[in-house]
Amino acid sequence: MLEIKSLTKSYGDVLALDHFSLELKKGEVLGLLGPNGAGKTTLISILAGSLRDFTGGVSFLGKDLFSDRSLKNRMGIVPQDMAFYEELNAADNLLFWGGLYDVPRADLKKRAAEILEMVELSGRSKEPVKNFSGGMKRRLNTAIGLLHKPDLLLLDEPTVGIDVQAKVSILDLIRKVGAAGTGVIFTTHQLAEVEDTCSRIAIMDRGRILAQGTLVELIRLVGEKDIVEITGEFAAAAFSEALVDLDGDGVELLSASDNQAALAVSDTDRIPKILDRLFRRKLAVTDLKIKTPNLEAVFLKLTGRSLRD
Ligand SMILES: Nc1ncnc2c1ncn2[C@@H]1O[C@H](COP(=O)(O)OP(=O)(O)OP(=O)(O)O)[C@@H](O)[C@H]1O
Ligand SMILES: [Mg+2]
Repeated sequence: MLEIKSLTKSYGDVLALDHFSLELKKGEVLGLLGPNGAGKTTLISILAGSLRDFTGGVSFLGKDLFSDRSLKNRMGIVPQDMAFYEELNAADNLLFWGGLYDVPRADLKKRAAEILEMVELSGRSKEPVKNFSGGMKRRLNTAIGLLHKPDLLLLDEPTVGIDVQAKVSILDLIRKVGAAGTGVIFTTHQLAEVEDTCSRIAIMDRGRILAQGTLVELIRLVGEKDIVEITGEFAAAAFSEALVDLDGDGVELLSASDNQAALAVSDTDRIPKILDRLFRRKLAVTDLKIKTPNLEAVFLKLTGRSLRD
């Protein structure tokens, strides 16, 4: 239902999207995982129609998104920065924002009540939004995106800055929306969120998709290997150099930053060799963890960086 073809967007010298292509089917929930500056908000802004001067195309429900204005009403956008009238209550905010879409006036009130129920804000719908917690505001923000029953919901970092319980409730809501047949794309930095919520995951960095698939498919990219995370006192370059002759011998360096590195090993019997190389160069190791391959390892392998950087 959505086909993004080779979107490219620069801000001056910064290439924010670099021939970005992606497809989404009806009812799919896609998690778009990328570090700061990967181009996530740029992508959502282009789809929302709020950015110009880009190349590439988007087909949505079989039509060209940028030439058919009626398609905008089939899409719900939940932006990274929330926008409400803080003095108005939740119900009135919904009525106001709903008025901007082509929701018939008569249906709007009923729909607002339904959607407040769905995001579990019915009990607080008469209170000014300025009294709401961060999590409640996020839910209202999401409600606005869903008010006109879109075929596609786009959420930009919907779980940033809210507590764990509020996150769980937003992710539950995303799952519910997908199960009801609405396509969903949500962006995040959080690996655990995409692991638990999405039918498909796309990893992006520097304006491009590096890999996509189900969690199991992505983890296969790392192969049948164990992940070794090493913490200590060392410079990134010294760490890489110390292990250079083990490269290819069942040891793959996934990432090395100062005092922290990750390796993929074909067998844990490689660990003594690794430690030996580090000790010989007087690189101190304070902690070593062995993990089975996970999405974090996939991300490290593809980008050479940790998402927490
Ligand atoms: N208005 C702008 N003017 C200049 N550069 C911009 C502008 N907006 C974004 N950029 C740059 O484009 C790149 C992509 O930014 P974007 O906001 O799309 O990333 P993001 O993945 O949403 O990051 P974050 O996780 O921090 O929200 C970054 O290098 C950013 O600095
Ligand atoms: Mg962003």
